[in-house]
Amino acid sequence: MTSSAITASGLRKAYKDKVVLDGIDLDIAAGTIFSLLGPNGAGKTTTVNVLTTLTKADGGTVRVAGHDVATETRAVRAAIGVTGQFAAVDELLTGQENLQLMADLKRLGSGEGKRVVTDLLERFDLTESARKMASTYSGGMRRKLDLAMTLVGRPRIIFLDEPTTGLDPRSRRTMWDIIRQLVAEGVTIFLTTQYLEEADRLADRIAVLDQGRLVAQGTPAELKRQIPGGHVRLRFAGELELDAAARILPDSTRDDEDLILRVPSDGGANSLRALLARLDELSIEVEEFSVHTPDLDDVFLALTGRTNTKVNA
Ligand SMILES: Nc1ncnc2c1ncn2[C@@H]1O[C@H](COP(=O)(O)OP(=O)(O)O)[C@@H](O)[C@H]1O
Ligand SMILES: [Mg+2]
Repeated sequence: MTSSAITASGLRKAYKDKVVLDGIDLDIAAGTIFSLLGPNGAGKTTTVNVLTTLTKADGGTVRVAGHDVATETRAVRAAIGVTGQFAAVDELLTGQENLQLMADLKRLGSGEGKRVVTDLLERFDLTESARKMASTYSGGMRRKLDLAMTLVGRPRIIFLDEPTTGLDPRSRRTMWDIIRQLVAEGVTIFLTTQYLEEADRLADRIAVLDQGRLVAQGTPAELKRQIPGGHVRLRFAGELELDAAARILPDSTRDDEDLILRVPSDGGANSLRALLARLDELSIEVEEFSVHTPDLDDVFLALTGRTNTKVNA
């Protein structure tokens, strides 16, 4: 039997007359990664704030690590770590001092504190910059330091609010590796993101948040079955080529006006090579070729019928 790390039922929150969370139900198994996926303004940070006792809900019940967030605030706080959307790093301290400060706050003895700080600097590849002021750190380094600070208290449940937004691809991959490592150690991760790809790669389960409601919930595979897959977009010079290509690619959809054919595809190198080879064999010339992988916009279009994912952010 797997136990739940986080459960929520009928969670509601409004700011004045603006309903931000409109009845959220969650059940997150211990030792898994759960991703709350949604555009800017969907209510992700509000959800994190309620689950981490920073904000009081207007209705519903939430249990984290077996404790009620409304009545057992201390016990919940003792079990969790939170890395917010905006880094909690003190810019005027060095990386090492930031970590030491956390160790002191967590009342680790001086010997243990030093050991934990040294280990975390090492683990996050920050040893060389440990004595530099955090204000000189890159965005990726700052996020790593922020997460390292969260880990000082060895939390069993970690909330990461958009941990990779604004990071370059390399720092993003580093962050993904760190997150996977944590889960391998048995930690439960609650991760918010605006990136379908990120949720897809990391999460055991994903919930899609739209205007305060969960419009879909499931494994990445279950979710992707509900959204159209990727496709290749082919543009031709004339009707003749379009006709010829459409004949050999019966699954495709055509746009006669723009002379475009959309061919369902996983976007992988092998299938692309095969597709182009087939067209080449029949001497069908392609004017323009592009690969489209589904993103958050596609998810929302499929689930809500709306393309615009910006919610008055
Ligand atoms: N303290 C607050 N007072 C009033 N409105 C708020 C407050 N915090 C968030 N909101 C509103 O709630 C909505 C959801 O915000 P948020 O949870 O930050 O979304 P996300 O993190 O998904 O971008 C937004 O419309 C935002 O303007
Ligand atoms: Mg947010």
